[in-house]
Amino acid sequence: MAMGRAHWGSRLGFVMAAAGSAVGLGNLWKFPYITWENNGGAFVLVYLAAVFVLGLPIMIAEILVGRRAQLSAVPAFEALAGGGARGRAWSSVGWIGVVAGAVILSYYMVIAGWSLWSFHNCVVWSFTEYDARSLDFDGFLKDGVLQVILTAAFSLMTTAIVMRGIGGGIERATRIMMPVLAVIMLYLVGTALTMDGRDAALVKLFVPRFSELPPQGVLLAVGQAFFSLSLGLGAMIAYGSYISKQESIVRSALWVVILDTLFALLAAVAMFTIIFSVPGLQDRVSGSTVGMLFITLPDLFYTQMPGGAVLAPLFFVLVAFAALSSTISLGEVVTSLMIDRRGWSRRKAAVVCSCAVFAGSVLAALSVGAVEPLSTMEIFPGKAGLFSTLDHLAANYLLPIGGLGTTVFVGWFLGRPALLEELGLKRGTPAFFVLLWILRVVAPLAILALLTAVLAGWDFS
Ligand code: PHE
Repeated sequence: MAMGRAHWGSRLGFVMAAAGSAVGLGNLWKFPYITWENNGGAFVLVYLAAVFVLGLPIMIAEILVGRRAQLSAVPAFEALAGGGARGRAWSSVGWIGVVAGAVILSYYMVIAGWSLWSFHNCVVWSFTEYDARSLDFDGFLKDGVLQVILTAAFSLMTTAIVMRGIGGGIERATRIMMPVLAVIMLYLVGTALTMDGRDAALVKLFVPRFSELPPQGVLLAVGQAFFSLSLGLGAMIAYGSYISKQESIVRSALWVVILDTLFALLAAVAMFTIIFSVPGLQDRVSGSTVGMLFITLPDLFYTQMPGGAVLAPLFFVLVAFAALSSTISLGEVVTSLMIDRRGWSRRKAAVVCSCAVFAGSVLAALSVGAVEPLSTMEIFPGKAGLFSTLDHLAANYLLPIGGLGTTVFVGWFLGRPALLEELGLKRGTPAFFVLLWILRVVAPLAILALLTAVLAGWDFS
């Protein structure tokens, strides 16, 4: 075990960095739009159940693996499983995570690049005049050159940080930016709630109508829970390996889960209210649900909000930052493996991994509209284009499979003494009983049942 491994600078260090990884485009961009596509209410309820019944215990399990082993995912599973053939077999859970990390990173960069474009638009609007019609989102999606340039810009920013190690810079920066993002978010929601679409939005979001939940909605909600909480690919294992022994894993995990969920719900409340309030916006958003974040919020900033002209560009800087604190944790999953396994220097590992991922990003960037076969290919029904295919594959299959491996490993193979010690719990306490029961039985069965049902093409409706 590594002696003298670096630890987070403060009690808050882990929570902030882990929340930085969790809170990102998954909350601000993806949650509102897939909630819209899946008709709100019932989807939100299934999502919340997935977050607290599966997400929280699996987050605890991941952090625990990282802290126990003091290593990143692949070697962590290997070491805790006792090395040898068994260790190698278990390390495959870590490998699935690395693949998932590379896949997610490749398309995540594309959306992250969109935040730079929105920032640019907002600066122009703030200095001239806001004109909703000048926002040609469809044209933007089809502009392949611009898509690749934006993606490349974001990739470069990510690589530059991962190359330097994530410690000082990102931990310090997240501690300032996340609270600022939270304050702007609250102001945004507060302003949105004064608009007349409020009631319709809240009903759509919080009144469950199960007959309106599409058959695949359950899988999508579970996949989104994994994606949003950064679970199933070893990111929390790597971050957990820097947690000090004095810190409570359960409390830290609970904080991250609560913060992440709040950000997602607030973003959805704001966007749904705007959609129901501004005439014509429903049609524009329905034409490109994927662009919801970038289409709805400028309307709020420039037409409703005092100080909106200043806040709009600032908000998109923060969106870019929230994305960056996530891409860095993804980049770290892939890079740290090359450092651990190949003995590469951090610089070499970061650059080589980024180039490899960027090749995928270019294809993803061209697949949102610019290049025909890439934007129309359909492997999963209803998920047209390489971009949606990668997103669906990673969030709804790879992450749940990674999560399944982790929960089975911690529940059945790690052994009770290790669990009790890491969690600081006593045998026989109800909390431990519930957690163990979820990790051993509930989570594995739920994930397995879901994957089987979907692979078998069962209809949930
Ligand atoms: N959780 C991040 C988000 O919601 C995305 C992410 C997934 C980051 C997996 C790291 C690992 O944006």
